[in-house]
Amino acid sequence: QDTSRPPLEYVKGIPLVKYFAEALEPLQNLQPRPDDLLISTYPKSGTTWVSEILDMIYQDGDLEKCHRATIMVRVPFLEFKAPGCTTGMEVLKDTPAPRLLKTHLPLALLPQALLDQKVKVIYVARNAKDVAVSYYHFYCMAKVHPDPGTWDSFLEKFMAGEVSYGSWYNHVQEWWKLGRTHPVLYLFYEDMLENPKREIRKIVDFVGRPLPEETLDRIVQHTSFKEMKKNPMTNYNNLPTLMDYNVSSFMRKGTVGDWKNMFTVAQNERFDTDYAEKMAGFNLPFCFGL
Ligand code: PPS
Repeated sequence: QDTSRPPLEYVKGIPLVKYFAEALEPLQNLQPRPDDLLISTYPKSGTTWVSEILDMIYQDGDLEKCHRATIMVRVPFLEFKAPGCTTGMEVLKDTPAPRLLKTHLPLALLPQALLDQKVKVIYVARNAKDVAVSYYHFYCMAKVHPDPGTWDSFLEKFMAGEVSYGSWYNHVQEWWKLGRTHPVLYLFYEDMLENPKREIRKIVDFVGRPLPEETLDRIVQHTSFKEMKKNPMTNYNNLPTLMDYNVSSFMRKGTVGDWKNMFTVAQNERFDTDYAEKMAGFNLPFCFGL
């Protein structure tokens, strides 16, 4: 056990990385603008990917402009706080409008002003098994998290919602339901991988920024996993105090179905039974890619 890793802190019953929990109070001072756009995801669901796509759209496909800073500066991570780092709220002070904002918060912890002011939301969901695997590797390498323990014990915690940001099952459902009363474009990681241009078109329509065909093609190319993995502005290779790159890279695999390399048959059966219970009555293709 690595005791230098702080335990999660519970806020309104939701477990969070200790530093992110501390950032929630200042975050309540957030003053949304009508032209803000909020990128919301459960962790490890394609946040960085959709963030880069959106910045490319906002910069009319200008690669140089998208190289102006790392993704954490171009798309402030609202609840981010970590030792020795600028907080998300501090980054936001210098962010020009129109702003792209990132969060993983469940609705119970989201600043109410974002909802009151009907800030547009792009949500990305990814299949639960691949999220669990990606999150496990991230927990191992990103030291703000508690020690994940064995894969088996981490998977149990994931199913119980005892990982940072709580239950995946609640998250994907509550943000889907929000779309009944709030402008939400709900995307799936698997759809993005299957046909990125089709999904980028949905984003362009939603944000009302039409682009020529050749720009769309450039965005598809620039935001591929291969390109983003080698791009220092998107690959998170700049945070060696927070992330141990000997354990894993942030841009790990970028595929669908990696869970098949991790789940045992027994874990898979247990997961499926639990999943069916937690997702009962929820008629979305949430077995996507499984
Ligand atoms: S975070 O830390 O929650 O913001 O992480 P997030 O960006 O949501 O998710 C990281 C996973 O997304 C993969 N990724 C990509 N897949 C396909 N194409 C592109 N361009 C891309 N960029 C990032 C990344 O590799 C993580 O998934 P895994 O399965 O671990 O590889």
